[in-house]
Amino acid sequence: MKAVISPRALPTSDAGCFVDATLPDPGPPAGHDLRVRVEAVSVNPVDTKARMQRYGGSTGRGGEAILGWDAAGTVDAVGPEVSLFRPGDAVYYAGTIGRPGSNAELQLVDERIVSAKPRSLDWADAAAVPLTAITAYEAIVDRLGVDPEAMDRGKSVLVIAGAGGAGSMAIQIGRLLGLEVIATASRAESTDWCRALGASAVIDHRAPLAEGLKAAGHGEVDCVLLCADTDGYWPQLADVIKPQGAICSIVRTLAPVALNTLMAKCARFSWEAMFARSSFGTPDMIEQHRILERVAAWIDAGQLRSTATERLSPINAENLRAAHARVESGRMIGKIVLSGWK
Ligand SMILES: NC(=O)c1ccc[n+]([C@@H]2O[C@H](COP(=O)([O-])OP(=O)(O)OC[C@H]3O[C@@H](n4cnc5c(N)ncnc54)[C@H](OP(=O)(O)O)[C@@H]3O)[C@@H](O)[C@H]2O)c1
Repeated sequence: MKAVISPRALPTSDAGCFVDATLPDPGPPAGHDLRVRVEAVSVNPVDTKARMQRYGGSTGRGGEAILGWDAAGTVDAVGPEVSLFRPGDAVYYAGTIGRPGSNAELQLVDERIVSAKPRSLDWADAAAVPLTAITAYEAIVDRLGVDPEAMDRGKSVLVIAGAGGAGSMAIQIGRLLGLEVIATASRAESTDWCRALGASAVIDHRAPLAEGLKAAGHGEVDCVLLCADTDGYWPQLADVIKPQGAICSIVRTLAPVALNTLMAKCARFSWEAMFARSSFGTPDMIEQHRILERVAAWIDAGQLRSTATERLSPINAENLRAAHARVESGRMIGKIVLSGWK
């Protein structure tokens, strides 16, 4: 099979940071595994971090890795315990960090973290969705504790970094679950994007958040979802959260943060790590199959859209290098996707 290899930690300024390779096909699939013929992938910040910090995607050959944690493709073969899919099914998934990723023509992935692809999307638009949709859904429902049947209608959530991949999904899913979504963005185009996805207000994260909320006619919020710079925003959180509110971050801190600042308001803090269920094989890892199914149903009903904004083809070393550089700019609006092998 064709695959794009990350040989070692190299910056995108180095033309050798990705290498086009031909590798033996993986499989046959065992247990709950599917073998998927990958048609399209997208690039997330985890790809760039894994490339430079050397975690995830290892092929087991001399430190090289197949990165890529978002894919859409066709089931090619199934393991003996597979019950949800058959060869020929069109699927989409993020996969898991501890296994070779999706930047390869064939990939093994556990069926419990895979769903049927939204029928209304092409491969590229579908590949933009899984990782950020799982992250946003788990953050809002499982960590912030928002009712999945919209019984918390009218509660507010502040989504910090609203225009990025994760924020773009959080705005849409928050709105679908009945929340009033206030997003942050710092540029005219990222502000417009957040509004188009359903944010009722957009405030500039370069200014104090409490002032931005006030100017937008809001006081404290019920929930905060941090999709950028947890260390930097932490000192402001106690000011913007309501008493007994909930805060979730998807971005690890670089230094310890003062949890005490949240005590007076009895505010709750939790992490979201979308690879946790699959990495630890939790008994409920099939929730990610269900989340992706629910997201596909929303998409096919016209209630949620793919966040793909930039497209490259084919999937090769040159285009992956360009996509990684784009994500590393920190200025993505929505997602960048790659499709086809030529
Ligand atoms: N824990 C998990 O499971 C999980 C899952 C997904 C992502 N993540 C992490 O979450 C972070 C965001 O991922 P992503 O895919 O959304 O990234 P992304 O698409 O690269 O985010 C780009 C957006 O971030 C905004 N931004 C940049 N710096 C900011 C800052 N200091 N404050 C506020 N906004 C800022 C920019 O908005 P403006 O241009 O408007 O400033 C831009 O639109 C990454 O660190 C990623 O690794 C974690």
